[in-house]
Amino acid sequence: MSDALSTIAVGALAGRAAIVTGAAGGIGLAVARKLCQFGASVTIMDRDISRARAAAVQFPAGACTVCGGDVSLEEDMRAVFDHAIAFAGKIDILVNNAGIIEHVVPTAQQDLAQWQRLIDVHLKGAFISSQLFARHVLDRQAQGSIVNMASITALRPMRGSNGYAVAKAALTMMTQTMAADLTGQGVRVNAVAPGFTRTALANVEGGIGADFRQVFDRIPLKRLARPEEIAEVVAFLVSDAASYVSGAVIPVDGGWAANCGP
Ligand SMILES: NC(=O)c1ccc[n+]([C@@H]2O[C@H](COP(=O)([O-])OP(=O)(O)OC[C@H]3O[C@@H](n4cnc5c(N)ncnc54)[C@H](O)[C@@H]3O)[C@@H](O)[C@H]2O)c1
Repeated sequence: MSDALSTIAVGALAGRAAIVTGAAGGIGLAVARKLCQFGASVTIMDRDISRARAAAVQFPAGACTVCGGDVSLEEDMRAVFDHAIAFAGKIDILVNNAGIIEHVVPTAQQDLAQWQRLIDVHLKGAFISSQLFARHVLDRQAQGSIVNMASITALRPMRGSNGYAVAKAALTMMTQTMAADLTGQGVRVNAVAPGFTRTALANVEGGIGADFRQVFDRIPLKRLARPEEIAEVVAFLVSDAASYVSGAVIPVDGGWAANCGP
């Protein structure tokens, strides 16, 4: 998508500092690039530090920093926030994007530890970062914006995704409850619910499984999203163009969730 089609102007995020979790690749990297393109500085956070470092090479000098860690561990995220604040002096934007699928299994065959891991990364991880972020913004009596990366699986059930989908559905409710708590204190909180997007996570055969053709047929646009198409909506949500938007969960799915037909 070209800048000319963007909802916000180049420079709209100038002077803002962001943390994007899970930003070594896929949607997170596209978000980090997009925020940087609109003028923000970015902390690229990921559990895979070497991929994060490799991704950072493509950013302009001084526009980003890299930090490793696991979003589900509070001590890791405290260190990430310290690192990001040392780099930029503050944080204005948090994008809770880190995610895993790892297993697409029917309920009866699910492994409890894997189920718990999905909840920990997607839900507990977003809670830990959001609370650290809210405290930072409130202490500074500043304004901030959080975007949580949900999924269309939060909106409609899908076979084999108990765990992932449940975590994402809870994340949309957490988005709304955090918006109720924090918007009046200067922190807008929103979520994006991407449809199937061309990344490693949505690895067509391995990630979504044998039902993929059926899923694909249901997408009115008849194609997967590009990570940049998800990033564009995130950039809008964190910008002043969305100054009256909080508690929203926005599907970016080529019409998938709206389409109940085949
Ligand atoms: N690709 C899709 O079709 C799709 C659809 C809906 C929602 N999503 C969501 O979008 C987000 C990004 O997914 P993606 O498709 O870009 O996947 P991806 O696998 O390309 O990227 C996910 C990134 O998160 C990192 N990560 C995983 N666990 C982490 C942890 N505990 N701590 C820190 N980093 C961690 C990974 O190392 C990876 O770099 C996820 O939350 C995912 O659930 C993706």
